[in-house]
Amino acid sequence: MLPKVAIIELGSQTTLLIERTLRELGVRSVILDPKRAAGWLKANSLRAVILSGGAASVYEDGAPQPPAEVLSQLREDGQPVAVLGICYGMQWLAQQLGGKVEPVSGKREYGKAILNLVGSTVSDEFFSGTFQRQTVWMSHGDSVISLPEGFTALAHSEAGTIAAMRNGHIWGVQFHPEVTHTGQGKTILRNFLLFAGCEQDWAPSSLVDSIRENTLKQLGDGKAIIGFSGGVDSTTLTATLAPVLPQRLLALTIDGGQLREGELEEIRSHAAAAGVELLVIDAREEFAEAMTGVTDAAEKRLRFKKAYTAILVREAKRFGATHVIQGTLAPDLIESGLTGGAEIKGHHNVGNDMGDLVQLHPIGNLFKYEVRALAQEIGLPESVWGRQPSPGPGLIIRVVGVPATPDKLEIVRWADARVREILERRGLYDNLAQLVVAYIGVDTVGVKGDARAYGGAIVVRGVETIDFMTARGVHLPDDVEDEISTVLTGHKEIVRVWYDSINKPPATIEYQ
Ligand code: XMP
Repeated sequence: MLPKVAIIELGSQTTLLIERTLRELGVRSVILDPKRAAGWLKANSLRAVILSGGAASVYEDGAPQPPAEVLSQLREDGQPVAVLGICYGMQWLAQQLGGKVEPVSGKREYGKAILNLVGSTVSDEFFSGTFQRQTVWMSHGDSVISLPEGFTALAHSEAGTIAAMRNGHIWGVQFHPEVTHTGQGKTILRNFLLFAGCEQDWAPSSLVDSIRENTLKQLGDGKAIIGFSGGVDSTTLTATLAPVLPQRLLALTIDGGQLREGELEEIRSHAAAAGVELLVIDAREEFAEAMTGVTDAAEKRLRFKKAYTAILVREAKRFGATHVIQGTLAPDLIESGLTGGAEIKGHHNVGNDMGDLVQLHPIGNLFKYEVRALAQEIGLPESVWGRQPSPGPGLIIRVVGVPATPDKLEIVRWADARVREILERRGLYDNLAQLVVAYIGVDTVGVKGDARAYGGAIVVRGVETIDFMTARGVHLPDDVEDEISTVLTGHKEIVRVWYDSINKPPATIEYQ
């Protein structure tokens, strides 16, 4: 079952904290980009919507806009879906419903603040079990100066800001209940979930049990093969299933030249941590042949998928498998159009023709941050749950504009490893949600030593993101860029190094 709470991400640093706090309260949630939210609201039944904070001002052009439908959404039983706006989310509610939002005049509230509940508000179910006077965490440049019709103020800060408002099933708070500095924040969020009628649907141990039970039921007395990339999804799923499928589960890694430096060793160690037998197939020649002469991005992906599927099916038959298990997640199924929405992007592990092999997606209702939490709960090492994502076709889609030949793959593999080393040594790697190092097949002129050089370029791109649907391009410090450029141009084939800090949108994270 998909989560019953949607968090609409409006540009806040703390959205993941909202998700995590709800999970600690036993309730799952999905984080949505405002542009996707309308489609989700239409297709799924919810109990509650939370509008996150954000850095923009609601009265500015281009400020993030949740879909207006959040205010009129109904639950399956016909009751209204409860809404909570946090900071920017509260300001958006106020403005949308006819109130007024203005920049804070005088001293801005940043950090700890004292909140005073209005009169008998402590009896409002939202603040129930908290205190008349309490410490909260505030960070805002704007505030609601007049409430929309029908709303009442539940609390003020000592600076006089309206800190909480309510009208029936709609609440707004100017402070951040999701951060621990708001002492009663968790209680307040629990109250909101209770009011919204949210049931507990996150319990790692029962999740493990249900993944096992469902898979065993679907598998019958068959055998299964799982495509094993060593990433958080396939490793966590394998570790969950391996104990209940002795002799019946084979993990398969296909080395088609797409792997990064040291990745095969990492995959082997993750397979050992997951407790599964691992088969590694060296298919580099097969893939090199499949990629011959291909420069087009979509064609590279298609050929990768075809070659990958053919080997998977071949090895499945050899093992006597009846089923193929995939670590596909909810966003993959959603983006592939399998849950009723539009197809946004093809995925290498969704919708493949595998003949009579039955495909199972046992974690197809989970999101990345939930899988990371599950991996942690079942005791997998940090190298699994903290790992950056890597696209299935790997380095093959990081060779841009020219065919992904073995020599070009070798250049980008080398460059990727050097950049990673530098960022790790400088303590910057873990701050990135993803590092992308790609070979750009445009030859340019340079001078190395006293001689003319003519060769390709490497582009370095770091992004910060929560859901990978939108992302912020990172600007690296000048001295870090200088070091990377010096090291990379030490390779005879690399003449230039470019740095790409564009956001998604308009760009995507990968180049193709
Ligand atoms: P884009 O480039 O669409 O990437 O902004 C979003 C995220 O998806 C990853 N990605 C893939 N992952 N198979 C995968 O398993 C793929 O074919 C694939 N293509 C992109 C990308 O690395 C980023 O994290």
